[in-house]
Amino acid sequence: MRKLIRVVCCCFIVLSPFVSAGKDAIPGYTYGKKSIMTAPYTLDDLEKLKATVLFTEDDAKWLRKSRKVLEPQAEKILDTWYGFVGSTPHLLAYFSDAKGKPDSRYLGRVRQRFIQWIYDTADANYDQNWLNYQYEIGVRHHRKGKNKTDNARAIKHIHGRYVVALTYPVTATLRPFLENSDYSAKEIDAMQQAWIKSVLIQSILWTEPYFKKGDF
Ligand code: HEM
Repeated sequence: MRKLIRVVCCCFIVLSPFVSAGKDAIPGYTYGKKSIMTAPYTLDDLEKLKATVLFTEDDAKWLRKSRKVLEPQAEKILDTWYGFVGSTPHLLAYFSDAKGKPDSRYLGRVRQRFIQWIYDTADANYDQNWLNYQYEIGVRHHRKGKNKTDNARAIKHIHGRYVVALTYPVTATLRPFLENSDYSAKEIDAMQQAWIKSVLIQSILWTEPYFKKGDF
C-alpha cells in the first residue's frame, strides 16, 4: 500500500507542471477581479452595439458550441495567429523593443491570456465583469496600459487602426479549425459568423481609450 502511495505521489510531482492550474495561474489575467476598472460604457451601450452588428442569442449559442471544437486545438490556433503576427514586421514591432528585438517573455505571457480569451469569447455572458475586462484589454493595447501587466520593454502603444483590422485575420483563420469537427457546413458558417460578430464587437470596445471623451 505504502509503495502504491509513493508511486502515485511521484507521478503527481512529475506530471504536475503539465496539469492546468486554471485561470488563476495565468499571469496578468484579471477577469472578474476587484482590482479591475469599471468600463466607461454600459450594458445598454453593449446591447446597442450588438444590435448594430446583428448579434443575436443564436450567435451566443453558436459561440458556446464552438468551445468544444476549438479548445483541443487552442495551441495550434495560437501558432497560426502568432505565425501571422510574427511574419508581419509592422505587427511584430509591437512585441519588440525600440531596436526591433522581439520580447519572447512578453510574447509567451500574452499567449497564455490569448488562449484563455478564446474560451472567454466562446462562453461570454456579456455581464458587467465581461464588459469591464473588455475595457481592461483595450487599455492594455493603448499607451495607458500597454506593457504594464508583463513589465515588458516593448513599444508603448498599438495604433488603433490595427486593433480593429486584426478582426479579419483572427476570424478568417479560425475556419479550418471549426471545420475540424462533425458539424455541417451550414453550422460551421453559423459558428464563424458568430465569431466574426463577437470579435468585431470586442475590438470596437477596445478602441474606447483611443477616442476623445464623448467621441466613442
Ligand atoms: C481583433 C484584434 C485583436 C485581438 C482579438 C487581440 C487579442 C488580444 C488578447 C486576448 C490579449 C490579451 C489580453 C489580456 O491581457 O488578457 C492581447 C494583448 C496584446 N495584443 Fe492584441 N489583439 C488584437 C489586436 C492586436 C494588434 C493589432 C496588435 C499588434 C501587434 C496586438 C498586440 C497585442 C499586444 C502587444 C498585447 C499585450 C498588451 C499588454 O498587456 O502589454 N493586438 N491581444
